[in-house]
Amino acid sequence: MDAKVETNAAAGDGKPVLPPGHDPYHHLHDEAYAAPFSEARVGWRDLISVAGRRLESLDGTWNFVLDLHDEGLRQRWFEDAPDPIGGWTTPRDYDDGAWQTTTVPSCWNVMRPEWTYFEGGAWYTREVTVAPGRAGERVFLRVGAANYEARVFLNGVFIGSHRGGSTPFFIELTGHLAAGANRLQINVDNRRRPERVPMNHTDWFNYGGLYREVGLLRVPAVFIRDFGVALVPGSQGRRIAIDVTLSEPTSGTARLRIDGLAEEIAIPVAAGVGRITFDAAPELWSPARPKLYPVRLTFGEDEVADAVGFREIRVEGQRILLNGEDIFLRGICVHEDDRDLGKVSTEADIRRRFADAKALNANFLRLSHYPHHELAARIADEVGLLLWEEVPVYWAIDFANPDTFADADNQLREMIRRDRNRASIVIWGVGNENADTDARLAFMSGLAASCREMDPTRLVSAACLINREHFRVEDRLSEALDVIGLNEYFGWYEPSFDGLKRLFANSDLDKPLVITETGADAVAGREGRPGELFGETHQSDLYERQLDLVESAPYVRGFCPWILYDFRTERRQTAYQRGWNLKGLIAADKTTRKKAFTTLSERYSELAQQQTPAGA
Ligand code: GCU
Repeated sequence: MDAKVETNAAAGDGKPVLPPGHDPYHHLHDEAYAAPFSEARVGWRDLISVAGRRLESLDGTWNFVLDLHDEGLRQRWFEDAPDPIGGWTTPRDYDDGAWQTTTVPSCWNVMRPEWTYFEGGAWYTREVTVAPGRAGERVFLRVGAANYEARVFLNGVFIGSHRGGSTPFFIELTGHLAAGANRLQINVDNRRRPERVPMNHTDWFNYGGLYREVGLLRVPAVFIRDFGVALVPGSQGRRIAIDVTLSEPTSGTARLRIDGLAEEIAIPVAAGVGRITFDAAPELWSPARPKLYPVRLTFGEDEVADAVGFREIRVEGQRILLNGEDIFLRGICVHEDDRDLGKVSTEADIRRRFADAKALNANFLRLSHYPHHELAARIADEVGLLLWEEVPVYWAIDFANPDTFADADNQLREMIRRDRNRASIVIWGVGNENADTDARLAFMSGLAASCREMDPTRLVSAACLINREHFRVEDRLSEALDVIGLNEYFGWYEPSFDGLKRLFANSDLDKPLVITETGADAVAGREGRPGELFGETHQSDLYERQLDLVESAPYVRGFCPWILYDFRTERRQTAYQRGWNLKGLIAADKTTRKKAFTTLSERYSELAQQQTPAGA
């Protein structure tokens, strides 16, 4: 093949002669092609608080092309000048995708039928013009989430990467921007791999793409990177702690104002960090009374603003206390999944989710199995719902792999950094249904320690499994948790409820237990006989039996069945399911309620009557 290339010069045909030694086919033989693009990886330390800030949206139409074999990375498409195909003198395999486009944010799987099951790399390309800003201004690209790994290129130069499919990231553009139009390319790879978090086997659909908002953030040379506003644990709601972290190790004074609580609090900042506490008597936030206070924090030219609720969550023996009052978590699990939008969450979708939870008389949601859109916790603050948020440390994670731990730990810290000022979040979840091995114990205990380091104001839990050897709620990880989560499917995967009775009789816990999953599939509209699988009658009866037994166990302080809506998963291929998990209380149309919805709503209404005001 090479001989042909050498004779071009002899032919004098005016076509470019490749420099000696240049092998145009080198990319066929280099399987280490991706390594350079996993460098310059950003993570939780690079996050910037967007509270009260204006982002310049880059949402809308982008050029788009699928790239199953990562040709763009192998052949370095991003270095090709974006000249039109008609002007080329050597052939290429990519033309900026101008011949097809897609919308950001979106999941490519729901944009075209031929893209439904695509797992691989894809390229998003658009022009970005950044108007000149203030002297010393810094410009960052913010991506709300890209599933799973993203690589960013500006004007043909690789400038950073991120991994983790449900948390935001920032890549600095300052210094890479040209006056006028810039060419921004983002490569997104949604492949499931054994060493990723989640790994390659999950019971939810693997959507891909830039599926949350993308924008530009301008900040002054020294800016507020992160700040925290919360009650001091153990202060009986009478003392507030403020911490601030700047972008630079600068010293000075930050100034805080909390309307109705604190006119102006000076926060000394030394080497880029500051923390103070002060006495205050805020009206405490709760689901029944979701009081939020406007907060404004400034340092130099920079300002952030937020609306913050003040509440305390803690455990005492087998009880969970919200603002000092015993609370029972009347919950429901929910995925980010929509028949039409995939994993995209709009404000309307989130508000519907929470309205349906309120219609259930729920006071709690488990946002499964990954960090949801940041709007979810913000709206839960507003409408008064308690949340469990978790990282997708799901099933058979590569627990012995240090790089897998680094990935999971970064996703966890990104989640906490992003949402730490949301009163609605009361529990951080560090995993789901993981076999009890030494490697898993070390891995998840490490994550629990990271939770406490990042945020001492919330509880830590995980959705654990039954200890089959002793047939009781027992997991070595419990030592690292404040609340034990338990997934059990008596009445479904294990038909007899005798197992649940035996489990509760065998178990002796010194801390609260929350049933973090139980349920049954039911085809909406298919009543079925009592005991008939996939019928609404069976699903409803299961909820009745579960609650009868759960209410008999004093250490069960929460019930969070699986799940609010039917959702996509390729694992479910029976005639009834056809690629959907039907354990929803509402069908995939997010409108058709099943009989079990009414059953649970009535049972939760009774439980709510027994609840003291805080948790009502
Ligand atoms: C598991 C798992 C869920 C799954 C559910 C089910 O508990 O945590 O992600 O969808 O069971 O079997 O429906």
